Order: sequence, then C-alpha cells, then structure tokens
Amino acid sequence: MLMHLISLYLATYVCNALPVKNEYQHYLELNEVKSFREYVQIDTSKEENLKYAVDFLIRQATDIGLPYAVYAPAGRPIFVATLTGDDPTLPSIMLNTHMDVVPVDEREWLYPPFSAHMDENGDIYGRGTQDTKDVAIQYFEAVRRLKKDNVTLSRTLHLTVMSDEEGGGKYGIKAFIKTPEFKALNIGFALDEGLASRNETLFATYVDRRPWQMEFVVHGEGGHGLAMPDESAMEKAQRLINAVMTYREAQKEKMKSKTRTEFGQLTSVNINMINGGLAPNIIPSSISLVVDMRLSTTADIQEIQSLVDSWIHKAGNNTDVRYLRRDTVSEYTAVNDTNPYWVSMKNTLNNMGMKIIPVVCPATSDMLVLRNLGIPALGFTTKTNTIPRLHAKNEYQNVKTFLDGIRTYTELIKNLGNVPHEQQTSSKCGV
Ligand SMILES: *[C@@H]1O[C@H](CO)[C@@H](O)[C@H](O)[C@H]1NC(C)=O
Ligand SMILES: *[C@@H]1O[C@H](CO)[C@@H](O)[C@H](O)[C@H]1NC(C)=O
Ligand SMILES: *[C@@H]1O[C@H](CO)[C@@H](O)[C@H](O)[C@H]1NC(C)=O
Ligand SMILES: *[C@@H]1O[C@H](CO)[C@@H](O)[C@H](O)[C@H]1NC(C)=O
Ligand SMILES: [Zn+2]
Repeated sequence: MLMHLISLYLATYVCNALPVKNEYQHYLELNEVKSFREYVQIDTSKEENLKYAVDFLIRQATDIGLPYAVYAPAGRPIFVATLTGDDPTLPSIMLNTHMDVVPVDEREWLYPPFSAHMDENGDIYGRGTQDTKDVAIQYFEAVRRLKKDNVTLSRTLHLTVMSDEEGGGKYGIKAFIKTPEFKALNIGFALDEGLASRNETLFATYVDRRPWQMEFVVHGEGGHGLAMPDESAMEKAQRLINAVMTYREAQKEKMKSKTRTEFGQLTSVNINMINGGLAPNIIPSSISLVVDMRLSTTADIQEIQSLVDSWIHKAGNNTDVRYLRRDTVSEYTAVNDTNPYWVSMKNTLNNMGMKIIPVVCPATSDMLVLRNLGIPALGFTTKTNTIPRLHAKNEYQNVKTFLDGIRTYTELIKNLGNVPHEQQTSSKCGV
C-alpha cells in the first residue's frame, strides 16, 4: 500500500514536472499553420522585406500548381496567382489581400510581433495575424483543397496580394488599376479583408468611410526660451488642437447612442502625430500635427471642407495644410437580391449555420478603389469570437478560428466561382 502511494505520488510529481502537453500543440505541425506562421514571420512593415513576401507567395502558388505573375506598376510588388475557370469569358472572382502590415511598437507586445508565437490557448500572436496575412493563406489553402478535390469552377479566380494598402494604395492598387494587366483580369466581384467579430455573427462590409489625412503646420514666433512671444507656434497649435478635439468630443457623444456596428456611420477624427521643437531652450517656429479623419457615408464634402478650413482659421495666420489623403467618393456594393455574389455568399454561410450582417467599414481598404471603378466588392473575414486587434498591439488569431476559416472559404469560393452569368446590375462605372 505504502509503495503504491509512493508510486502514485511519484507519478503525480513527474506528471506535474513535465511540460503540460498542450491540446493545441499538434496544430503547429499542419502545413496550413506552418504557412501562416511563416508568412507572419516576414516583417513586411518594412518595404525592403516585401521581396521576401513575394518569394513566399511564389512558393505557395508553385506548390499548389497555380500560374502567377508579379507586377510592380509603382515600384512595389503586386502578386497575382490564377486558377482558370471552365469559362474564362465570364467575369472573374478576385480574392484580394495585402502583404504589407502596419509597424509595431515591439515593447508593447506580449510576444515578439514577428514570431507568430502560439500561446497555451492556441492564440497565434503577430502583426498581420488579423490584417491580413491570415486571409491570404486561407484563400490559398481553400484553392489547394478545391484543386485536390478536382472541383471545377466556371469562373476564373485571381488571388491578388497588394502592397501599400496601409499606406493608401498609391504604390499598390491605385497604380495597378491603371495597367492593362489589371483590366485583363476582367473582375466581376472582389472579396477582400473584413472585420473580425466578437461573437458568432460575421460581417460583410459593403462601403468604406472616406479617409482624410491632413498635416497641419503652424508657424509662429520662435526665439530664445526665456521669452514669451505672442502668436508662438505652440499657442496656435493649442487652438488647432482645441478645435479638432471639440469636434471629436461631439462625435464621441453621438457614438454613445450607437451600437458597435453603427460606428462606421459616424465621422471619426484623431490627432495622431505631433512634431516640433529643437531644444529645451528654443521656442519652435513651427509645429506639425497630423490629423486622421474618416468621413461617415453621409457626410457632405463641402461641410467637411468648411470644418477643416475653420480649424485653420482658428489656428491663425500662417497655418499650412497638406492633404495626405482626401477621398471624396466611396461607392456602395449592393447587399440585396440584385447582387448575385452577395446572395451566393449569404446562402453559403447560412447553409453552413453561420449568420452574416452587412455593415459600413469604419476603416478604409483597397475595396474603396475597386468599388469606385464599378466593381462590386465585399469585405469579409471568418474570424468569429475574436477581439479585433488590427493595427493594435498583441494582434492574434486562434489557430482553430484560422483553420475553420479555410473550411468556410473553401465553400464560399466554390460557390462564388460558380455564380451563373447574368446581366450585371452593377452600379457605376469608370469614376
Ligand atoms: C482528381 O483527378 C486526378 C486525375 O484525374 C485523380 O487521379 C484523382 O484521384 C482525383 N481526385 C479526386 C479526389 O477525385
Ligand atoms: C453579435 O454582435 C453584433 C455586433 O455587435 C450584433 O449585431 C449581433 O446581434 C450579435 N449576434 C449575436 C448572436 O449575439
Ligand atoms: C496675420 O498676418 C498679417 C500679415 O502678416 C498681420 O497683419 C495680422 O496682424 C496677423 N494676424 C494675427 C491674428 O496674427
Ligand atoms: C439594392 O441595393 C442597391 C444599392 O444599395 C440599391 O440601389 C437598390 O435600390 C437595392 N435594390 C433593392 C431591390 O432593394
Ligand atoms: Zn488591412
């Protein structure tokens, strides 16, 4: 008996001493997960690393057996892999993501942001795990499964991976759409990045808010730090900050009566960068402030321009403004029975037991550019029960969520690729 107890004790002890075999650990052996982590590990917040992302994408396409092309209409790479459909005359389906990611402040992260570390809950941490390296791998893996199962699609699929989405698309989609290679893709519908959901209900974004990003430079009386001149740059900056923040408070107040999914219908504003000053004992003669504004779908451009002009007026003489982005048009994609691609998506998801609701995208994506060309485009991601952390610290995705997503995309893409041809009710063309 005693011996028995001792051995029991020893067994317990040994068990506790050994590292607990984690129920998620085996997922790390899956090729899908390996590809996802490898892609996240490429630090594409740095432009010089985009070429490694392209090398990686070429390997994915080659491995699946998809022909591909790499373009660089504005110096940065754009990758396109293609699965040709049975009827290549039909408008194609574009499965779009972007290879660039936003920068990180590594000190804020639980794990190194380009490690793709998986914790004991199966959460894979890293910049791009939500925005949007996950989606790129999910598209590739879904197509791999369709090919493996000899599924035939009537429409051609183009898996496109842009650069410079986060920078506004000047070196990415905005340059690409001007090329004959883009026109040759003959896109009928595009799927692109979407919003993660905190519960089981998925989102489809059908319109983006219009971004206005502005750098204000206030100039004022500089000099020795012992003086206190009137109309110093800081006095002007203070007036500008007060004016912007007053508007911001009003918008925040409006937000209180809205649900999370309605936030996109409001105009947001933030002062995100402030620069100025030379030394502790010198009064700066200029200060720069960068303001990021996202206009609600109903905001009137003239009114917003008057608002910005009034900020400049309040700051006072000698205030310059430079627009980093000033989008005035953002078209809608229909999310009703007139859009056969939406109908296909909704039916596929509902048949799989999932719910999807259309929402305004509070951010801005490459889809704004596509929709303004008259191409229907919906933002979508399969990330359920996920805290949205795009652009934030500790961006992560659960490994099971990621893998479930591949299954969902496989069905979605199969059905989208077989949406029958019909007269496009497509909205506007050639903006
Ligand atoms: C797909 O087609 C190939 C070649 O015709 C065949 O060898 C393979 O068994 C098929 N796979 C399935 C899942 O039907
Ligand atoms: C999930 O969250 C969305 C957005 O907040 C909400 O509209 C929806 O009703 C929720 N769904 C469920 C099933 O709770
Ligand atoms: C603005 O500049 C003009 C000319 O430079 C000057 O006459 C005027 O007093 C200035 N106004 C203020 C409020 O500083
Ligand atoms: C479908 O949506 C479009 C775009 O929002 C709208 O213009 C159209 O009137 C809607 N059609 C129907 C039948 O609801
Ligand atoms: Zn993104």
